[in-house]
Amino acid sequence: MNTKGFIFDLDGVIVDTAKYHFLAWKKLANSIDVDFTETQNEQLKGVSRVKSLEKILSWGNKTISEDEFMALMAKKNDDYLSYIDKMGESEILPDVPKILNHLNESNQGVALGSASKNARKILQKVNLISNFQAIVDGNDVSKAKPDPEVFLIGAKALNQKPENCIVFEDSVAGVQAANNANMISIGIGDKTVLSEADYVFKDFTEISIEFIEELIKK
Ligand code: G6P
Ligand code: MG
Repeated sequence: MNTKGFIFDLDGVIVDTAKYHFLAWKKLANSIDVDFTETQNEQLKGVSRVKSLEKILSWGNKTISEDEFMALMAKKNDDYLSYIDKMGESEILPDVPKILNHLNESNQGVALGSASKNARKILQKVNLISNFQAIVDGNDVSKAKPDPEVFLIGAKALNQKPENCIVFEDSVAGVQAANNANMISIGIGDKTVLSEADYVFKDFTEISIEFIEELIKK
């Protein structure tokens, strides 16, 4: 039987944590007298914690010491984790379990490929950790998306060639990372934003089991 590697981004694909990142970054930005809008939050999708703070500081024309930078990063994460601690299964995005369970039952490779250093914790909270054979997160990579590193490590962990892997991503940088890895890219979100993806769906409710079966046979 054909087996493929299916690699999922976390934030915005499996769970909607962007709203918690927004609340935590906004509180932090406002505490140093910097404005922070939902539009700016959009630009932080798929962007690492360090790079996100650098962007916020540059938007607010702020320069701070290395020690202050580290303190702000820790503060943001503590605040973010206070939301994560309250998460449960109800926050899994619609039809994600349906697709994951189908892939698991048909013995396909399933991995996580996320920039988040909190990925394991979040998967545990929403009770999906056992659906994944491999987890590659912000602790395992040195190069950020659109670099393909995170997905290439995922493919290796699943023992699959990159060309036999399929990536689900909600960010432009993530779709580019999948394309750079020579994998099939499936955008989850807006077609006009994710125009570089091989396929785009609004969310998993639009993805049929037949479509997944086609990908497996390819
Ligand atoms: C994902 C999210 C980003 C977040 C990054 C790091 O890519 O889309 O918004 O900044 O992960 O997350 P972390 O949980 O490590 O702060
Ligand atoms: Mg994402």
